[in-house]
Amino acid sequence: MSIEKAYNSWAAQYDTNANKTRDLDHIATIETLKKLNFNTVLELGCGTGKNTEWLIQQAEQIIGLDFSEKMLEKARQKITSSKVQFIKTDLNQKWEIATDYADLITSSLTLEHIKDLSVIFEQAAQKLQEKGKFFICELHPIKQYLGSKAQYDTEQGIQDLEVYIHHTSDYIDAAQKFGFKLLELKEWFDQENETTHDFANIPRLISFVFEK
Ligand SMILES: C[S@@+](CC[C@H](N)C(=O)[O-])C[C@H]1O[C@@H](n2cnc3c(N)ncnc32)[C@H](O)[C@@H]1O
Repeated sequence: MSIEKAYNSWAAQYDTNANKTRDLDHIATIETLKKLNFNTVLELGCGTGKNTEWLIQQAEQIIGLDFSEKMLEKARQKITSSKVQFIKTDLNQKWEIATDYADLITSSLTLEHIKDLSVIFEQAAQKLQEKGKFFICELHPIKQYLGSKAQYDTEQGIQDLEVYIHHTSDYIDAAQKFGFKLLELKEWFDQENETTHDFANIPRLISFVFEK
């Protein structure tokens, strides 16, 4: 099944299924972005608007891009603010967004579905203002090496989605190629183990803040 079709069928349960990765990403997004000032946000792979709802409290304008009509439908039901626009877009294609539109670009749990990170960083560099920030939060490569991937339950069993492994250096190399500077890299652990930080506890997510 194509990634787009899989998200169309996942959309109905995406917000309500038990999903530690989704929930930890929300925490990582807020913890990281509450330290920054921003007004104009471009959200790549906005899905059902889980993070858009928080972002719109901090920003003046947001454009959310996603190629799943059903995920976008959920987002549009939840978020009716005139400050937010959702536009159906395949991130592998050209984004119809003005040059220098954003002072913040965010992408959560989406780049594991993108084969060539250059396509993303090249366009992000065009759409971001000088000194603008690019926040990325993804399933940690270590989790990917161990076989974790986006998946959801169906009546027929678990539906795995098509994903691509990106090493930590892949993000950093692609960013540098298009002129970004790494400001912050963090690893995010499941909350119940956070206090112990024992070595058996591997990080679930990795996040980056890049600056143009
Ligand atoms: C795991 S969901 C994450 C949604 C949201 N960012 C969140 O954190 O809840 C991944 C999203 O990326 C979108 N996506 C994946 N590949 C895409 C592509 N090539 N173009 C546009 N959207 C894409 C999917 O439709 C889905 O909504």
